[in-house]
Amino acid sequence: MAHTPFSELLQGDLQTLEANLRDLLDPHLSEKEHLSLLNLACGRGDETGVLAKLLAEKSKSAHLQGLDIRAAEIDQANSRWKKELAEKEGNISTDFITHRGDRLRDLAEIGTPDIAFLRHQNYWNDKPVWTQIFDQALERLDDDGLLVITSYFDQEHELATAALEKLGAIQVGSIINPNSRTLSDAPGKSVDKHLAIFRK
Ligand SMILES: C[S@@+](CC[C@H](N)C(=O)[O-])C[C@H]1O[C@@H](n2cnc3c(N)ncnc32)[C@H](O)[C@@H]1O
Repeated sequence: MAHTPFSELLQGDLQTLEANLRDLLDPHLSEKEHLSLLNLACGRGDETGVLAKLLAEKSKSAHLQGLDIRAAEIDQANSRWKKELAEKEGNISTDFITHRGDRLRDLAEIGTPDIAFLRHQNYWNDKPVWTQIFDQALERLDDDGLLVITSYFDQEHELATAALEKLGAIQVGSIINPNSRTLSDAPGKSVDKHLAIFRK
């Protein structure tokens, strides 16, 4: 049987993510002149084009700030997305920096994002660090701010949700992705299997 090229699989994942994020955000994200999104632990930020498209539907201009501890991935994200967004979505800027999400308090210049986003949050890998990431992300938001997570695993999603609620977050929406692409590197793992949206 012929294998589907990885680029096609990725494209399918992103199309599904776009549809699910639109459904999740739509009731909660008001239109605004300018929107800002903080993509925490973003890795290469493959979903940046999807996020830019969704923000463009709700605003005249937007800024996407990405952050991860892995410098090589951040370099890739900057090389790809600064150019691509400038060509496709001229009113949307982006910037990716190498920084710890659990040291967000050191980054005053990031300000108050409208949305804090964590795709494939990794709570169970290091609960104390991710509790700090969640806590400092929530601290950044104002009363209208939204925090969105996606998760690979059922149990990790439950644990992350419980941790966020313990920090005072209120879950206002969630989606289980029935077409989530299964990954073979760990049992029960699949792409953007769960999505959830929180307010403070
Ligand atoms: C499961 S990966 C998800 C990456 C990306 N969001 C995605 O969906 O492909 C978890 C990410 O968390 C990042 N990470 C781990 N600890 C971190 C920390 N303390 N601060 C910022 N990023 C961190 C890793 O480098 C990795 O990119």
